[in-house]
Amino acid sequence: MTSLLTNPLRVGLRQERVITPQCIVIFGASGDLTHRKLVPALFELFRQRRLPSEFAVLGCARRPWSDEEFRSRMAASLAAEIADHPGAWEQFSQGLYYEPVDLQQSDHLVRLAGRLEVIDRHRATRGNRTFYLSVAPEFYGSGCRALAAAGLLSDPERSRVVIEKPFGRDYGSAQTLNKVVQACAKESQVYRIDHYLGKETVQNILVMRFANTIFEPIWNRNYISNVQITAAETVGVEDRAGYYESSGALRDMVQNHLTQILALTAMEPPGRFDAEAIRNEKAKVLQAARLADEQEPWRCCVRGQYGPGGSASRPLPGYREEPGVNPTSTTETYVAMKLFIDNWRWQGVPFYLRSGKRLPKRISEVVLTFREAPVHLFDAAGGAPTPNQLILRIQPDEGAEIKFEVKAPGSGMRSRPVDMAFSYDDSFGEPSDEGYVRLLADAMLGDPTLYTRSDEVEAAWRLYTPLLELIEEAPWQLPVQPYEARTWGPAAADNLLAEDGLIWRRP
Ligand code: BG6
Repeated sequence: MTSLLTNPLRVGLRQERVITPQCIVIFGASGDLTHRKLVPALFELFRQRRLPSEFAVLGCARRPWSDEEFRSRMAASLAAEIADHPGAWEQFSQGLYYEPVDLQQSDHLVRLAGRLEVIDRHRATRGNRTFYLSVAPEFYGSGCRALAAAGLLSDPERSRVVIEKPFGRDYGSAQTLNKVVQACAKESQVYRIDHYLGKETVQNILVMRFANTIFEPIWNRNYISNVQITAAETVGVEDRAGYYESSGALRDMVQNHLTQILALTAMEPPGRFDAEAIRNEKAKVLQAARLADEQEPWRCCVRGQYGPGGSASRPLPGYREEPGVNPTSTTETYVAMKLFIDNWRWQGVPFYLRSGKRLPKRISEVVLTFREAPVHLFDAAGGAPTPNQLILRIQPDEGAEIKFEVKAPGSGMRSRPVDMAFSYDDSFGEPSDEGYVRLLADAMLGDPTLYTRSDEVEAAWRLYTPLLELIEEAPWQLPVQPYEARTWGPAAADNLLAEDGLIWRRP
């Protein structure tokens, strides 16, 4: 019988793609992600008529909920969307089911398999299944084992498993987890999610680079002097202290989201536009990346932690005062570092990465700064010409911007920097889909292009190993430096660039 799921290699990133009948099974269905992101994304796909009518969502968690209870809880968190589309919700929610499942109990898996067969009959989902592991990370491996032992991953054409982040805690644990997962399923069945890859502007890095002729010829060490990648957030730890305390900014944002942006910015053009060709290039560039000083990582990295701040009318607590946080915590909420990529394209070009919570602005961007013109023929308004920059604005205000010098009006020939900007909003008008909409659709389509492969994930962890080991073994060498909430991080992060005669872009 021919496969009912689409062959990922043939799908590539074609426009016309149809999700085949299937059931998506969400483990961890009582958790935040399910009602905040996953079910809203599935409802959005339903409203866009991208889900087939033979479709079901089975929520699974330990709580003894009924189908009805699950539906009404999901409805409560989607109240605003449902108010606008009551009919659509009515239809969509008929395909929502719930089964109490503890992945550690083999008899629960037997019951789950039975329930899936019933759903297959009622909803004509034909045995095609996407299992989404939105459980605590320590259960990713055992969760896959449980699914495999119950025979639920045995057909590589009909079953896939999506694994949330963080995939491992370091290089060794990521390798171990990969081995466990690969013993349960083929790599082609495994979808390691990084929601940044679902963002239109992150995907746009590839299109900007490889659909134009003007950028790629200068996208290298001959023309680019340095690259800055920033992901700044205004929010603090929110109610996630339990998770964040053992994660910190390095594991929470840098190893995954920023590293994916780095890979797309720095990779070589793929030979073809398909999942494997793209992931080969991403893995290759990450394998060539290293901390600027691997022997003494404290020289090229800065860790920070937000203290109290805000205004008199709206004071903000420091990280150590947040609910659930250890009052003597040394978890970093900010990290900045310098990397190099040892290959022909990037040798000697510093890449600076920074990410932090409770910074003054929510902004993610990539800034490529070009080398100075070899000769200065004109006086520049500020004394020296501003180097050209290409800024890829990931969020908010999605778009791109080029900074260059023009003649300042008036007599004489002085130059002045100006911007030329592209905005997704102005050009296309409609808001782009939430990352999870795109990524869930891709997983159900069998297109892994925007998911990370085992070697990529390992290379990303390997890159930060000297730093993780230092924090583990000699944390006093890289202490967290306090910064006031709503400021741009510790002064040491500015020094990191100042040593190279540079400054962070202040967006
Ligand atoms: C998540 C992190 O992966 O990404 C959060 O766990 C962070 O700590 C979030 O706030 C940021 O995502 P976005 O899409 O809002 O930039």
